[in-house]
Amino acid sequence: MKKGLIATTIVAAILLGVSALTFPSIAQNANSSSTTNRNQNDSRSITSRDLKAAEKQDFSSATWELPEDASRTKNPVATSEESVAKGKELYLAREKGNCIFCHGDTGAGNEANLSRLRRKPADLSSKERMSSMTDGEVYWKISKGINGIMPAGEKRMTEEERWHVVNYVRTLVKKE
Ligand code: HEC
Repeated sequence: MKKGLIATTIVAAILLGVSALTFPSIAQNANSSSTTNRNQNDSRSITSRDLKAAEKQDFSSATWELPEDASRTKNPVATSEESVAKGKELYLAREKGNCIFCHGDTGAGNEANLSRLRRKPADLSSKERMSSMTDGEVYWKISKGINGIMPAGEKRMTEEERWHVVNYVRTLVKKE
């Protein structure tokens, strides 16, 4: 009987010792795995938060990022009927300039799409506005665009094509 009690005590002590050693590690494992889960959840929710943030991204202060001497770039393509005709095609073509989408066929703005645009397009038919810019400046604006506001034409048109567009845009200015 007494032997049995001692044996039980020893077994109990061993069990206690083992469990004391084991449980913290179990607890730690549980912790670390729940941390991993939390991280996974976090990265999932960050992704969807990021997407939402991107939708709501504020482009209100986005502006031209042009080379410093942009306005001094010389137009290498002499204006001609041929160049203007090419420029017009690019201005209208959806997969090229697609300028018409925002600036309209007259350059004064596409009324039909206005409500869908983040910013009111500049009036390319305005003599005052257009005469204040050199061909170089127009070229660089078409090339670089404004992030989130106007697409960068250099992604879809060659240099020469962009100069044709410059030459065409010049013809949109209203005669007084
Ligand atoms: C998604 C709409 C959109 C498209 C497409 C677009 N533009 Fe624009 N464009 C704008 C907006 C908006 C502005 C005014 C930006 C500003 O000054 O803040 C602008 C400004 C300009 C300006 C500068 C005017 C100035 O006084 O500074 C030029 C030149 C111009 N666009 C030409 C073009 C040409 C050419 C194309 C086609 C290759 C084109 N844009 C395509 C929206 C667009």
